[in-house]
Formats: sequence, C-alpha cells, structure tokens
Amino acid sequence: DATVGPGPRRPGLAERAPLLRAARREPTDVAPVWFMRQAGRALPEYRALRAGVPMLESCQDAALVTEITLQPVRRFGTDAAIFYSDIVVPLVAIGMGVDIVAGVGPVVAEPIKDAAGLAALRSVEPDDVPYVHDAVRLLLAELGDTPLIGFAGAPFTLASYLVEGGPSKTHAKTKRLMYTAPDLWHSLLDRLADVTIGFLRVQVDAGIDALQLFDSWAGALDEGDYRRYVAPHSAKVLAAFEDAGVPRIHFGVNTGELLTAMGEVGADVVGVDWRLGLDEAARRVGPGRALQGNLDPTAVFAPPDVLAEKVRDVLLRGSKAEGHIFNLGHGVIPETDPGVLAHIVDLVHGA
Ligand code: CP3
Repeated sequence: DATVGPGPRRPGLAERAPLLRAARREPTDVAPVWFMRQAGRALPEYRALRAGVPMLESCQDAALVTEITLQPVRRFGTDAAIFYSDIVVPLVAIGMGVDIVAGVGPVVAEPIKDAAGLAALRSVEPDDVPYVHDAVRLLLAELGDTPLIGFAGAPFTLASYLVEGGPSKTHAKTKRLMYTAPDLWHSLLDRLADVTIGFLRVQVDAGIDALQLFDSWAGALDEGDYRRYVAPHSAKVLAAFEDAGVPRIHFGVNTGELLTAMGEVGADVVGVDWRLGLDEAARRVGPGRALQGNLDPTAVFAPPDVLAEKVRDVLLRGSKAEGHIFNLGHGVIPETDPGVLAHIVDLVHGA
C-alpha cells in the first residue's frame, strides 16, 4: 500500500551491495559501476519494446517500466538499476502540459511567464503516480542483490524546461526571470522542490535503495548565482531525505566550478562530468562525500587501448576520493555500441 511508509528493504543489502557501500564511503573490492541512461536507445531490446509506444506512456506502464529497467542490468551486469522514468513525469502527473518529443526532449505547451503560471504546481501524491509504486515493487522482487536507484529532476533543471518551454542552450528566459523577478523565482523553485520531494517520497516509500537528484543544467550558472538562486531549494529536497536511509547522489553537467557548493547542499555522493579529474573533484568537494563518475561518454568510440587507458585513469583518480562509484560523465549516447558498455563493466570489475 502506497500510504503505509517505507517498503521492506532487502535485509543486509546496505552491507552487501558495493554501490551502497561506496556511497557510504566504505571499502569495496572493486569500484561499483552503472551508467546514466543505461536504459534507452542504445539497446535494441529497448527500441523493440518502445516501438509505437510514446515515451511518457511507457513511463506510466508498470510492466514496461520494470522490463526496461531490467534490460541493461541483465545485459551488462551493472551494480545498480536506475528506475526507468523521466524528470518530467511528476509534472505530467499533476497536469502540466508537458510532452517528450523524440530527438528533442521535454516540450511545454504553456511556458511559465508570471505568477499565474505557478497555480498548477502542487506536490505529487502517491495516487498521481500509481505506476511508480507498482513498478518499484515489481522491480524489487526481480533485482536480487542489485540496488535500485530512484531519481528526480532538481528544481532548477525542471524550472528551465518550464520557463523556456523546451531545451535551451543559454537558459536565457530562465535566468531573465531569476534576475528580474527574484520573489517569483523563489516561489517557483520552492513549489518545484515540493513536486520533487513528493515524487521521490513515492519512490522511497516503495523501497528504492538510493536516489539521484539530477540538476543537469545547473552548470549554466556561476557559483554566486547557484548559491543564491538554486542551492536553498536543492538543499530543501535533499534534507527531506536526510533520515530516509537511502544515499543521495547529486549530479549536474559542466559543474566543475560548482562542486563545492553542490556538495554542501546535502548530497552523500557528488556526480562529476568528464571535464574535471576525480582527484581534483575530491579536493573541491572535500571530506565526507563520495564521488560518482566520470568517463567521457564519447570514450566508447575510441579504440580499445585508448578506452582502457581512460577507464584506468578514471579509476586511479577516483581512488583518491573517499568512495567512488564508476559512471559516465553524462548519459549513454544513443549511438553507443552496447558491447562496449559491457566491456567497460568488465574492465572496472577486473581492475
Ligand atoms: O536509464 C536511465 O538513466 C533511466 C531513464 C532516464 C530517462 N530520463 C529516460 C529517457 C533518466 C534518468 C532521465 C532523466 C532526464 N530526463 C534528465 C536528467 C539526466 C540527464 O540526461 O541530464 C533530463 C535532462 C531529462 C529530459 C529529457 N528526456 C531529455 C533531454 C530527453 C532526450 C531527448 C532525446 O530524444 O534525445 C528525454 C527523453 C528520454 N528520457 C529518453 C529516455 C530513454 C529518450 C526518449 C526515447 O527513447 O524516445
């Protein structure tokens, strides 16, 4: 039942699963590894299941969500599953007019311009997303000792889609609103924090083992603006799960200059893109946090010796952190050969 609190976690898993150990900065034999966007278009079995099914529909079908989440775990033997969904699913669930257009990304029918645009933004309740609770329970029954990572979009990244109306290179409309109407901006992000908390709460109560808060586009901001306009709202989200018993991973792209601030908002694990070595990232994030990352997603197109050298370099630099979860520095590129991802898992596990 979605309303009765945390589902039964697998006894002792936190001590056994390398991903959960590394997230708590406990030693592991080898680094645990998973890939952001490991479920998706790089897999022929995903493309087959998705044929004729719109993206959002696939996220609202518990049986499809379960199967798509399991596909990469079966194929690669990754140390975690990531729940198949999207950062806009909770926005759709509360009735915002958002669609996901193939090859484009999220598109918003009526972008937010003013206070009236905030009216529809309310927290997500379990009954808004019954398929999430159902899929998590189905997955826990199938996953054995593989942890399940739940996720949501952070307030800034959600705000960017809602204000721009779609993907943006400059985030100009978003930052214009932030600078010119700071009170409206903070109300918007505060409401989005509640949306995100509600969506994560459903996943945590259903039994996910870890959560990742994606602030994918936070790297568009300088550190001062990040601290002033964004950090308090991300901190509110992460604080809501302080005592939930699930490690909190926090990730954004191009956030090398924000790593200190992003660590301070309350993450147990800070995700790093490929632009900065994990040794330097560990210095910036400081003690008390693990790191996740950070192989360049295009390294899969390099010859085997170049790829192997890059994997070794990530592992060596990652060993300077208090805990290291191997991942790409951003999501799997759709053109990636799945065989190369399987090989990367073997390289990391064989190291
Ligand atoms: O395997 C996984 O990582 C789990 C699934 C997942 C999806 N979206 C499925 C998806 C996750 C974790 C996300 C998060 C997400 N969605 C983020 C944060 C992560 C990141 O990449 O920075 C963002 C910014 C979005 C918004 C979004 N949704 C984009 C930019 C796109 C890609 C548009 C495109 O077609 O290139 C989507 C669509 C989407 N979400 C796909 C998948 C598998 C591709 C759609 C398809 O298969 O048709």
